[in-house]
Amino acid sequence: MTYDVNDFDSLDVVNNDRDHVWHHLAQHKPFEQTGPMVIVKGEGMRVWDSKGNEYLDAVSGAVWTVNVGYGRTEIADAVRDQLVEMNYFAQTAGNVPAAKFSKKLIDKMPGMNRVYFSNSGSEANEKAFKIVRQIAHKKYGGKKTKILYRDRDYHGTTIATLSASGQYERRNQYGPFVPDFVEVPHCCEYRAQEDADKSNYGVWAANQIEKVILAEGADTIGALCLEPITAGGGVIEAPAGYWPRVQEICKQYDILLHIDEVVCGLGRTGTWFGYQHYGVKPDIVTMAKGVASGYAAISCTVTTEAVFEMFKEDEDPRMGYFRDISTFGGCTAGPAAALVNMEIIENENLLENASHQGEYLRGRLNDLKEKYPIIGDVRGKGLLVGIELVKDRATREPVEEETVMAVAGHCMANGVIIGRTNRSFKALNNTICLAPALISTKADMDQLVAALDDAIAEVTRGM
Ligand SMILES: Cc1ncc(COP(=O)(O)O)c(C=O)c1O
Repeated sequence: MTYDVNDFDSLDVVNNDRDHVWHHLAQHKPFEQTGPMVIVKGEGMRVWDSKGNEYLDAVSGAVWTVNVGYGRTEIADAVRDQLVEMNYFAQTAGNVPAAKFSKKLIDKMPGMNRVYFSNSGSEANEKAFKIVRQIAHKKYGGKKTKILYRDRDYHGTTIATLSASGQYERRNQYGPFVPDFVEVPHCCEYRAQEDADKSNYGVWAANQIEKVILAEGADTIGALCLEPITAGGGVIEAPAGYWPRVQEICKQYDILLHIDEVVCGLGRTGTWFGYQHYGVKPDIVTMAKGVASGYAAISCTVTTEAVFEMFKEDEDPRMGYFRDISTFGGCTAGPAAALVNMEIIENENLLENASHQGEYLRGRLNDLKEKYPIIGDVRGKGLLVGIELVKDRATREPVEEETVMAVAGHCMANGVIIGRTNRSFKALNNTICLAPALISTKADMDQLVAALDDAIAEVTRGM
């Protein structure tokens, strides 16, 4: 692929960006010297910056979003056609792509039945929290307003979703937070708590949730909100035994199970949804990033019919329904894009490909683990992969964040973009995160591993 870099120079894109754009998750001081990176083109697995550099994007748009890859004209065409026909009307009324997409989505989610549209993962989770809170008032006389979240999980950037964040450094300086969000312990076996039963860690970790429930009072807790596989918190899959016990606990204490599929949804881990690996039956599922692969802003809060029904049967018809609106939940571009996105995943067998390439990638990374003692753990499912870096394999002491940043910097210099736990935890920002598009090929995975190999060799030289 070629283009004329002078096009961007003449538009003064980089200067205008540096002068006026406030970037996300970024300290701007260094841009005064280096200038910000401006991405100008994407195709398949690759993006190009305004200087003409090509990169293999191993994190699907930096934040695990572009599941079907860049440059999908079929999605762009569907969005264009829909916008010309009917671009917007509030979701107080229906629209054609929302109805079609809802049906297609629900077909992949046995047990679920209603789709509520909004625009971001945070917003989808906020809707879920509001649903839980309103049920507490309607059904439980104002009790059961508490929502449990897990250490190391992340659910968004708004004040309420940060209140439900198990990532200390993401929350730091943004309080005070919303009351009635209560943390339960993480389930990362590699970082098992000191008093854990290591012989049956999955069940032990789930039982820690029950302990919190009993301490708080089950009659105060409305929902448990969990990522199916913790993503930005270090790519953590719960060990065997965890999910059946979680399901049992929710049933026993009449607690709704809310699964946050914002990262894992739409094929990332090799099934349509992450929870489907574990036979979990959720009450609420939220999703965003991969729903339309970033071709339009869309998120969904999906519920069972039983949850939905609670908003119909009410003595007070004036206040009993879900009194919530998201203006841009009525944009038709989102569901129009999401519909074609799902068709691509089906037609190109991308679920199978994600499983297959993910397995290959983890195999190659485990080979690297043999070579470099700094690699403490390789984990994940499908094309969601984490590599935990440690100073010492025996003690599992984490490397400094700067070491992970140096590995990422070398990869970038070699034309490969990787991710990492980013200012999330105290002293545990030591995990490289990978989430390449579901269209990944073996050659892409080989290029990614070669870049990591070079980078780790360089960073550990003389260590
Ligand atoms: C698991 C999870 N939930 C929710 C969110 C928030 O999504 P958004 O940034 O679209 O608000 C994220 C974002 O990274 C996430 O990883």
